[in-house]
Amino acid sequence: MKPGIDVSVREVGLRDGIQNISAFMPTADKLEWLAAEASAGMSEIEVCSFVPPKVIPQFADATEVAGRALAIDGLTVAALIPNRKGAERGIAAGVHKLDFVMSVSASHNRANVRRSREESLADFATVAALISGLDRSKRPTLAGGLSTAFGCTIEGQIPEQDVVRYAAALAETGADEICLADTVGYADPASVRRLFTAVQAAIKPLPVAAHFHDTRGLGLANALAALDTGVTRFDACLAGLGGCPFAPGASGNVVMEDLVFMLEGMSLRTGVDIDRLIAVRAILERSLPNVPLQGAIAKAKLPKGFYARPIAAE
Ligand code: COA
Ligand code: ZN
Repeated sequence: MKPGIDVSVREVGLRDGIQNISAFMPTADKLEWLAAEASAGMSEIEVCSFVPPKVIPQFADATEVAGRALAIDGLTVAALIPNRKGAERGIAAGVHKLDFVMSVSASHNRANVRRSREESLADFATVAALISGLDRSKRPTLAGGLSTAFGCTIEGQIPEQDVVRYAAALAETGADEICLADTVGYADPASVRRLFTAVQAAIKPLPVAAHFHDTRGLGLANALAALDTGVTRFDACLAGLGGCPFAPGASGNVVMEDLVFMLEGMSLRTGVDIDRLIAVRAILERSLPNVPLQGAIAKAKLPKGFYARPIAAE
């Protein structure tokens, strides 16, 4: 975490936010979006997915987007990968962080990455081995992401012990961080407290990040519950875009502006300048005119006198 920051928020809009949008967002607009957010103080952005363009055409320009993002000073550039081939592409591009994704739901894992969970774990092991074979200075951070950790629209309930088991397996196999994702918005604050507490206990001292979708309106409540268990890493998406194309009924992530508003209002510093963050929505309005933008703060405006403290201003 950057000095002076209490909670790290990470923009996933350029990956999760647009993976479900069939219209190709022009590369120039993606670059404008990520540069504008970086200059608003966003210190980590998941900028693309290294998946076959045949599977998600939106990421046909992944290498170019990653390369341009890496030129932004001080920005941690992350990319989603589903397998070893994705890791090879991410490493060749030089990204700082690889977000490996597998699903705790066997059915969603099959729908999403066409593998059994054990096959995905084996893929993860090959990715970890690939990274540990690199020169230390070239090794990206490896995050192990667990989708559908709180429930699945195909399978319904997901046993909590399965989440803990797969988190522990990823941790033992070389993950630097575990990310629990509520892919389809089934979590509630009680399940968040239970699962984050259990996973943190199982893999400590590795950090656990939270990735919530606001599908059923509990995104911020869940973020607060995770915060209470000690989580300090949160994914979110500008204007609440997002959703997995291979998870029926999936919809947008927690709205980044609203999350930053909540955290800064609680005197937890994110390093993000909220006014400048809100202004970045204009890029989406222009580039994705048919995509509805969410967000309570953008709609209601900041409270009079609200003062968030960007790190750069200190
Ligand atoms: N990037 C580019 N090409 C890739 C690739 C990657 N990450 N992974 C595999 N390929 C290529 C292979 O080289 C192979 O090419 P070839 O036909 O020219 O030989 C082809 O794709 C098929 O490879 P295979 O390993 O059999 O893949 P698959 O068809 O079983 O698909 C995934 C598996 C994981 C690649 C695919 O299901 C996927 O991309 N899923 C991700 C979905 C996603 O992004 N969901 C939202 C995020 S949670
Ligand atoms: Zn997601």
